Amino acid sequence: MSEATMTMDKGLDHTIIGESTKSFIDGQKGVLEYVGIDIDSLARNSTFEETCYLLLNDRLPTPAELEAFTARIRSQYDLSEYMWAALKAIPLSAAPMHVLQTMVAMLALEDPDCDDQSLVAEEEKAIRILAATPAIIANFDRLRRGESFVRPDANDNVATSFLRMLNGTKPGEASAKALDVCLVLHADHGINASTFATMVVVGTESDMYSAITAAIGTLRGPLHGGANERVMNMLQEIGDIGAIEEFVLGRLARKEKVPGFGHRVYKAIDPRATYLKTFAESIAAETGNIELFQMSRKIEEIMESQVGAKGIHPNVDFYSASTYFSLGLAIDLFTPIFAMSRNAGWAAHAIERLEDNRLIRPRCQYTGPHAADYTAIADR
Ligand code: ACO
Repeated sequence: MSEATMTMDKGLDHTIIGESTKSFIDGQKGVLEYVGIDIDSLARNSTFEETCYLLLNDRLPTPAELEAFTARIRSQYDLSEYMWAALKAIPLSAAPMHVLQTMVAMLALEDPDCDDQSLVAEEEKAIRILAATPAIIANFDRLRRGESFVRPDANDNVATSFLRMLNGTKPGEASAKALDVCLVLHADHGINASTFATMVVVGTESDMYSAITAAIGTLRGPLHGGANERVMNMLQEIGDIGAIEEFVLGRLARKEKVPGFGHRVYKAIDPRATYLKTFAESIAAETGNIELFQMSRKIEEIMESQVGAKGIHPNVDFYSASTYFSLGLAIDLFTPIFAMSRNAGWAAHAIERLEDNRLIRPRCQYTGPHAADYTAIADR
């Protein structure tokens, strides 16, 4: 097929790249389902571990299946001595997303099944990455605070394990539950940019570690998962509720985007943001951060009046920022925590793609010269 007869679709907004049973989004109505189950229902009733099972297996587990799956994750929480030593060698000034990306790539170095593309082996790698991620993020943060490592406790669920390692003490039930719900809400979201990155990688029959490291790098961008950190930086920069109106109107007048708003697919409110908004309010009130929540509400109010009619509403990153801050998490851990959860969706889509793979290889419309002369370097 000639490029001249093909349709240009720069952001792939109008391209469906395959079939999927993982998540359904109705951007006009603000609906998100994982395997047919509404996100609100999952946030209220499920757990991160159960949601991971759902995404990987396309159905909810029985009690025995959930127990076995959870045990499988927990048995791989701890890092090898080689990985602990590697973590120690990373410069303390490194961005946590880069640390996570590097360490996930390093997991490949000690996996003899790295290139085994059977679905069983791919799922095993996915679970290994998912299980190791909390220890990597939490312990890198400890290192840069001058604290020694805290190893994971196999009795904890993922959220509790992460917070225990991060803070060195068992988290309160409310905090652990709050993080668990956030992990459920972030676990999957169709073929977003980072999930697409995993599909490009596995589409070449490369390995799961390479796919997830590509996804982590993609999630880091401020137009994608990195927006949650930008939201918090913005709230801190504004500093005071009285300064919000001028700040937001000024940004809009200069045609600068306001982080945490807008979405390629949602033109109604992102249902995850609806859930997180209520959640952020109660956590902020409990932890003495209510002013932060009130600032967020005010930004939303102004954005709604200015650009709501254009379909620009809060996305998942807007209220997750104040939620994570209220939980006492460092701002540059927000996106790694997003990755900790999205590991599930990345792997689920990557494995699904492998079951019916086709190399992803789009084209571009060439607009450069033809038949150009090669000028010798001395003559340029
Ligand atoms: N603030 C102000 N205006 C916005 C915003 C925003 N956050 N988002 C979109 N717009 C405006 C654009 O300026 C543009 O206006 P125009 O038509 O007058 O030129 C119009 O809405 C369309 O914007 P695009 O960027 O073309 O829309 P796209 O579908 O590419 O954008 C995106 C989606 C990238 C998420 C965008 O809304 C954005 O940059 N938001 C801020 C970053 C952010 O929060 N990202 C997280 C997304 S959720 C996630 O990935 C987990």
